[in-house]
Amino acid sequence: MTERDTIICADTEELSRKAAERFIRLANDAIVRSGRFIVALSGGSTPRALYSLLASPDYNERIPWNKVHLYWGDERCVPPHHPDSNFLMVQETLLANITIPRENFHRIAAELDPKVAAADYEEQVRKLFELTPGALPRFDLILLGLGEDGHTASLFPENEALNEAHHLVVATYVEKLNAHRVTLTLPVINRAAEIVFLVAGQDKSAVIKLILGELPEGINLPAARIRPANGRLVWLVTKDAASELLQ
Ligand code: 6PG
Repeated sequence: MTERDTIICADTEELSRKAAERFIRLANDAIVRSGRFIVALSGGSTPRALYSLLASPDYNERIPWNKVHLYWGDERCVPPHHPDSNFLMVQETLLANITIPRENFHRIAAELDPKVAAADYEEQVRKLFELTPGALPRFDLILLGLGEDGHTASLFPENEALNEAHHLVVATYVEKLNAHRVTLTLPVINRAAEIVFLVAGQDKSAVIKLILGELPEGINLPAARIRPANGRLVWLVTKDAASELLQ
């Protein structure tokens, strides 16, 4: 059963603080329960402030990073030093400022052929979770962003990646961006114990109203298909992003 919470935040700073507190609580609970915390990070720009906060002295010391495994929800098919790389964004905001064993962050090798990168990344997931064939990994936390078109991770409207039911990770070509991406698939995301959307900015107000309000018949937005079967779904949304929803 999906439990859903929507938390309206004054601004990105409050959203990041709430997300950081949640991250720390989930991390420490998971580590007590299983000895480790496995999280998939969101790409894009919104989470930059959260990752910088987690790396700051007030938060950094509260997380046993040697027991944390960092994955990425998706990646652009560019080298790790490319300005569009989600790995580079996390490297700059978080990894460069914390002490975490190299074997604890699992980069998508997006400089490779997209299909090779997807298969390699799927193997990295299978290995850590020690999955039997057909089993799904249960991430302790998956952070997601939201595009104005309702995409999340690299699951875009009308894209075949949305219907992937077997693979954990797929390579996908996004026509409108003329770009190849690698992404976790819907079954993996919906298996997570907790999913937290981080959404900020007036430009997201229309799509937030659609997804958190009444989705008109026939409109099929990828982010609206994020419903963890047995987990918690939390929307951290800034006031400006929620402005049409709250009208
Ligand atoms: C990516 C993300 C993508 C992102 C949204 C929102 O690789 O870009 O995975 O799903 O979260 O596009 O991006 P912003 O946070 O930059 O608005």
